[in-house]
Amino acid sequence: MTLTRKDFPDHFIFGVATSSYQIEGAAHEGGRGPSIWDTFCREPGRILDGSNGDVACDHYHRWPADLDLIRGLGAQAYRFSIAWPRIQPDGKGAINPAGLDFYERLVDGMLERGLQPYATLYHWDLPQTLQDVGGWANRDTAYRFAEYARVVAERLGERVKSYATLNEPWCSSLLSYEIGEHAPGLRDRRLALAAAHHLMLGHGEAIAAMRDVVPSTGLGIVLNLQPAYPASDRPEDVAAARFADGYFNRWFLDPIFRAEYPADMWEAYGENVPEVQDGDLARIAQPIDFLGVNYYSRSVNGASGNVKPAESSYTHMGWEVYPQGLTDLLVRLKDDYTLPPIYITENGAAYPDRLSGQEVHDPERVRYFQQHLGAVAEAVRQGVSVDGYFAWSLMDNFEWAHGYDKRFGLVYVDYATQQRTLKDSARWYQGLLTGQPEGQLVSGDD
Ligand code: FCB
Repeated sequence: MTLTRKDFPDHFIFGVATSSYQIEGAAHEGGRGPSIWDTFCREPGRILDGSNGDVACDHYHRWPADLDLIRGLGAQAYRFSIAWPRIQPDGKGAINPAGLDFYERLVDGMLERGLQPYATLYHWDLPQTLQDVGGWANRDTAYRFAEYARVVAERLGERVKSYATLNEPWCSSLLSYEIGEHAPGLRDRRLALAAAHHLMLGHGEAIAAMRDVVPSTGLGIVLNLQPAYPASDRPEDVAAARFADGYFNRWFLDPIFRAEYPADMWEAYGENVPEVQDGDLARIAQPIDFLGVNYYSRSVNGASGNVKPAESSYTHMGWEVYPQGLTDLLVRLKDDYTLPPIYITENGAAYPDRLSGQEVHDPERVRYFQQHLGAVAEAVRQGVSVDGYFAWSLMDNFEWAHGYDKRFGLVYVDYATQQRTLKDSARWYQGLLTGQPEGQLVSGDD
């Protein structure tokens, strides 16, 4: 399979993505306040390897070299996130000038290197002080978020090419308040659905707060979407897939693009549904300029639980490699919703990489990227408007509850020395982006 830059529209943007808590470190520097992930990591048993983001990739100090690396890959854009507790250590009120200065230097550093800054305002590091009063389960957090968004937009302005309000609200609500795998680690569906509603409201409020401040910058949101397939044609399996689609996808897509919650899910959630006030859905559904889609895998649903197809291959996360799901998802989004242009804001795979000398051979990751980029190109051919693709991730980093054990990077990080080494997949991506034939850069795989 040969994929080239020409398989994508001319205006199509290629980039790499990261997030603040996963790479920055410097948790106690520059006036940063504690976030819910600082707290969570210190609770025994929460993080598989017992680690935390105190140092991570030390990007807070190494950012100039990291931006050079991104430039060296031939990327045109860099998707990064801003840590709310660096901007407002208490989540409200006083602004920390050192925090704004840091992101201003970072954004200017991107512009100096010809990289377009794609900022995400919330990639899960909520100020702990807001969690102390209920976090996203408290409606007030939505308004605090909009205030913070405005502060950032006023300072960084239109130097930023695009602002995404939230990264993956499913994760910061259901995974965090119902499943308990992410901070704050609760197990309560009612609180989780309240959190989801307030996240969505916060998204709408933040868009409204930023619109006039940065009129020509793109504003949008990033969702993790997971196409749900039934394990068989049996009605019970079809119903299970329909529920999974509602739980992961429609619960977030429908409010944003239809100003309503999906009726079947509203009924299924019964007394756990959130309190929705007059005007909330109109606020949530106001126009946005792009939809960010994070895609990793699909689910295969049976009446008695999820199924893992035996013939498939799986990543180090245990996630099925299923590129067709990305084409199916994108085409379905086009058919079911009226959408702004889409960016694939994350896509990638973890494998147990090993450094050998100055090299890391990761043919499975190369294949994953090839196949998924092929799936995007196919969706574009089928008429879906996709404007860009960001590989997750620039470099290995703190993979949340999995700690440092799962490596998603194009670039290998030796955490003892902080040395960065390009994996074969980075060289492959560089080949694609700079127009060199991939075969010259990577050998030993298809
Ligand atoms: C996504 C997150 C990102 C990263 C990848 C593997 O859910 O947005 O931070 O952890 O998964």
